Amino acid sequence: MAKGIDPAARHLVVAANRGPVSFHSDPSGEPVVTRGPGGLVSVLTAMLRSNPGVWIAAAQSEEEERLAAKGASAEIKLDRDRYTVRYISFDAATYSLFYNIVANPMLWFIQHYLWDLGRHPDISENEITAWHDGYVPVNRLFAEAIVDEIGGDGGRHLVILHDYHLYLTAPLVRAAAPKVFLQQFVHIPWAQSDYWRILPPELRTAIFEGLLANDIVAFHTQHYVDNFLQGCVDVLDLPIDYARKSVRVGERDVWVRAYPVSIDPQSLRAAASSRRVTEEERMLLERRREYLLLRVDRLDLSKNIIRGFKAFDRFLDLHPEFKERITFLALFQPSREDVEEYVEYRRRVMETVAEINTKHGNTDWMPIDVRIQDNYPLALAAYKHYDALMVNAIFDGMNLVAKEGAILNWRQGVLILSENTGAYEELGAFAVGVNPFDMEEQAEAIHRALTMPATEKRLRSEQIVEVVERNSIEKWVNAQFADFSAKFAAG
Ligand code: G6P
Repeated sequence: MAKGIDPAARHLVVAANRGPVSFHSDPSGEPVVTRGPGGLVSVLTAMLRSNPGVWIAAAQSEEEERLAAKGASAEIKLDRDRYTVRYISFDAATYSLFYNIVANPMLWFIQHYLWDLGRHPDISENEITAWHDGYVPVNRLFAEAIVDEIGGDGGRHLVILHDYHLYLTAPLVRAAAPKVFLQQFVHIPWAQSDYWRILPPELRTAIFEGLLANDIVAFHTQHYVDNFLQGCVDVLDLPIDYARKSVRVGERDVWVRAYPVSIDPQSLRAAASSRRVTEEERMLLERRREYLLLRVDRLDLSKNIIRGFKAFDRFLDLHPEFKERITFLALFQPSREDVEEYVEYRRRVMETVAEINTKHGNTDWMPIDVRIQDNYPLALAAYKHYDALMVNAIFDGMNLVAKEGAILNWRQGVLILSENTGAYEELGAFAVGVNPFDMEEQAEAIHRALTMPATEKRLRSEQIVEVVERNSIEKWVNAQFADFSAKFAAG
């Protein structure tokens, strides 16, 4: 029987590149705090509500730098949540190598299969230097902050690391605090082994070994679990127990598990009834055509934005009777604007939209309405009124847009869902599934969604809502905590 404190009852420390909030100043210069961008904030907030703890993050703004300089953690209040956040300050050049060269694009592109291998990437001195002088030191400083936060041998702490920014953090924390319980949650896909071979052996080995310093490595789907286990064989030649989903590393067993993340329907519905959402809704309805096709994404290459527009172009070619009766509303949150690949992608997205609008539109009708802004209330308003929601990602760890949309939609709108999203494992049977590369199929999917008999639409949307309600965010949190205890008991 294992001795010590059950990890589920220990002090929780979570670490992620971004913190839970963003700091801005209003026009009069007064500080304003809003919820930080990205899906991670909602899901970690849900976890911290039931299991209070400290959140360690990289300082991203002047205010966060100021808080980092104080050394200790800060209490930050936002609506009904209270966060204890410890910020880490990084030298700007080091952080830029870490974020703009290694984490995004290198790792993000590998894990979403985004490299066009005949042409990119070049692993040159630039990338190797960015690894050693950016990714390694940022991970080291994260580990130092965690070790400092927990103090002692770690026997009273449960540490959960998040995502691809922190693959090298766990070994350093374990070395300094051997009794700590460590989990790392990877929120993005896990690529198959051959694609990891893009990275030189030293780097890919460090990534797999880094993750295996955890007690549990977590993903959103069984498919990513399987890819990771196979990777441990291919990259590190380690013995795997496929039935128990575990990897033997020296004297330790590392569990590899899937916990499909979800949303909190109740909080989402509450957020969607705010005054700002109602105001957005009013403006949306004033301009509404008979049909609304919607997409909501971060402006990211993995979201497959251009093929989605080309499919819409093809749909209008094939079904001209829909002209002037439909709008494709595309809401994009700006993202990673210092990364060259993203700047170029944004330019190509806008070029494609201009071409399609010129080809099909007229002075009275703009087929595609693109908004690039951080406007969550508008997204919530649009969720309520779509007839079809397009989620055609090339690859996506989960995709919470598919779930949020279904919960808020009033029109029994149809979900067009890429078979390469994590959400497809749960929702694929009730969505119109698409291959993200096949634009003919996506064009047909739009038509099918808009012409589907009402009874079928109702059945499909009810089933999606049922799955999302059942696989709640509480279930996601509880499943992980149950495994912390089970793993600890198993040794
Ligand atoms: C994904 C990742 C998160 C990340 C988010 C936004 O959801 O899993 O870790 O925070 O994208 O990306 P950004 O680079 O803006 O933090």
